[in-house]
Amino acid sequence: MKHITCIEDLRELHRRRVPKAFFDYADRGSYAEATLRANREDLQQIKFRQRVLVDVSKRDLTTAILGEPAAMPLILAPVGLLGMQHGDGEIHACRAAQAAGIPFTQSTMSICSIEDIAAAVDKPFWFQLYVMKDRGFIKSLIERAIAAKCSALVLTVDLQVNGQRHADIKNGMTVPPEWSVSKLLDFASKPAWVAGVLRGKRRTFGNLIGHLKGSDDVTVLSTWIASQFDTTLSWKDIDWIRSIWPGKLILKGILDVEDAELAAKSGAQALVVSNHGGRQLDGAPSSIEVLPEIVDAVGARIEIMFDSGIRSGQDVMRALALGAKSCMIGRAYAYGLGAGGQAGVAKAIDLIAKELTTTMGLCGVNTVAEIDDSVVAV
Ligand code: GLV
Repeated sequence: MKHITCIEDLRELHRRRVPKAFFDYADRGSYAEATLRANREDLQQIKFRQRVLVDVSKRDLTTAILGEPAAMPLILAPVGLLGMQHGDGEIHACRAAQAAGIPFTQSTMSICSIEDIAAAVDKPFWFQLYVMKDRGFIKSLIERAIAAKCSALVLTVDLQVNGQRHADIKNGMTVPPEWSVSKLLDFASKPAWVAGVLRGKRRTFGNLIGHLKGSDDVTVLSTWIASQFDTTLSWKDIDWIRSIWPGKLILKGILDVEDAELAAKSGAQALVVSNHGGRQLDGAPSSIEVLPEIVDAVGARIEIMFDSGIRSGQDVMRALALGAKSCMIGRAYAYGLGAGGQAGVAKAIDLIAKELTTTMGLCGVNTVAEIDDSVVAV
């Protein structure tokens, strides 16, 4: 990993090492990908104020996330199918996060099950929930997360209907992932990936298989989501979830001030400003565009996390400057996982940490608490 100097290098290695269907699943966005691009472009528009001759010898990335100490204001977001980017990918990503002192969020749509990860790591991780039509199953999934001592529940609220990702359809992205003849040529050129995935515990959705009807038939991902996800989900269901889940609750996928107000009243401890990495409502604003107004409206009442578009420590600094308390990364670490398993995820986290500490130094800031809108030029 010594010539890897930025997340883009990990992305390129991921692209070369992992079959196209899985790389594209992580990399691409929905429809015309306008929101996917806006996330990046709008972050890059934000310019820093360079400050000089300030003592920056005591730079410190430590912070608190939901009241728990964290080594830096960074969280690994829930990402589906990590075990298809690298065998046992969820376990590798969780271990890398825990070694770095930051939270890892396991996706409902993981290859490893909650129990697989719990047995493989020492510390608690977060669990992300999708609510499906079979509420009995969802209750049991939350109870499994409680039994595994997960330390926060991240309820994703922006994917009850699935924004179409053209690439997934063109690539025949199926669930469970299908080892079809058409994919064999691609697989044959990626022997290390094949060996790793074959060594992994599972090759299908570990949390769902055997529990949820239809989870063992092969269907195109979007068709399967359309048949399983509960489109009746509404704010009143948050109370039902809170009646089962006693711990910290995070609502992920808030992009509008009115929804942020409802989130602040919902009893959740945090909300994540997110457009699902440009994978859902194409034409929605970038997450960074709406962050300041959401912070203004509810930042004093609920912890605000930021997601969608972060590829560097500079981007983390930008989101913190505009009022987020911490940032989630998805693709940035998925690229690392595809590029090199646990070491690749560790590299992604380390790159972002080093970029953040350098950016703080060049902006004349020593602590995370000092990062506010005074570090950016308006
Ligand atoms: C699932 O969360 C996805 O974005 O594919």
